[in-house]
Amino acid sequence: MCPGRDWCSWRDWSVPGGCTQGRDGSHGPRRVAGGLPRYGGRMSARLVVLVSGAGTNLQALLDACADEAYGAAVVAVGADRPGIEGLARAQRAGIPTFVLRVADYPLRADWDRALADACDGFSPDLVVSAGFMKLVGPDFLARFGGRFINTHPALLPAFAGMHGVRDALEYGVKITGCTVFIVDSGTDTGPVIAQAAVPVSDDDDVAALHERVKVSERALLVETVGRMVREGWSVHGRKVKVGH
Ligand code: GAR
Repeated sequence: MCPGRDWCSWRDWSVPGGCTQGRDGSHGPRRVAGGLPRYGGRMSARLVVLVSGAGTNLQALLDACADEAYGAAVVAVGADRPGIEGLARAQRAGIPTFVLRVADYPLRADWDRALADACDGFSPDLVVSAGFMKLVGPDFLARFGGRFINTHPALLPAFAGMHGVRDALEYGVKITGCTVFIVDSGTDTGPVIAQAAVPVSDDDDVAALHERVKVSERALLVETVGRMVREGWSVHGRKVKVGH
């Protein structure tokens, strides 16, 4: 692990001479030996994006990745259900997809392991949950902990869970927003990377507010992922620092 840090960024363990030991021991040699992943002659971080629905956050990442200067490429898109627009977006972009339904596995832990294997098969530097409506388990976190991020449509720690927008509206808050965070073993409890505020209007319903939150969310996710892959990140306790 990098001296003086609880965690290290992919740049630390992907450059010769950088960190060779991640917290779970899974990082380092493979990437140090291979050096930085390269696409089209330029350095690029590999993203696997997980979706469960419309995939507008995925689309924002795909659009951003079209610019080489962004510093990342979506190398695969995974889902927990077939037939969703998020998968169609990936297919239209020519990106490999995989679908793993919890119901197809005898135990939740089997699904979790299969999900981790499927992601691992694409050697991601960062896994992004973009509207993926499933909690991952210990196997997945053992492999991707510290480099698995999620986007949530509320200002965490307020209104965690499946209905962040509805719960914020029902509570009567005047400001809500979105949060990009590093996933840990809790429900939306991991260290916060970035947040953006969105005012609530008197006449908002859940759909209208969610659409406005998603406008902010897409911009925040694109900006945050871009900064992470270009500048690196570190985590000290609950504090995430992007850049040096
Ligand atoms: C996003 O608002 C995301 O924050 C939310 O699902 C939406 C997906 O939109 N996720 C959660 O609520 C997770 N708790 P998209 O499919 O259009 O990107």
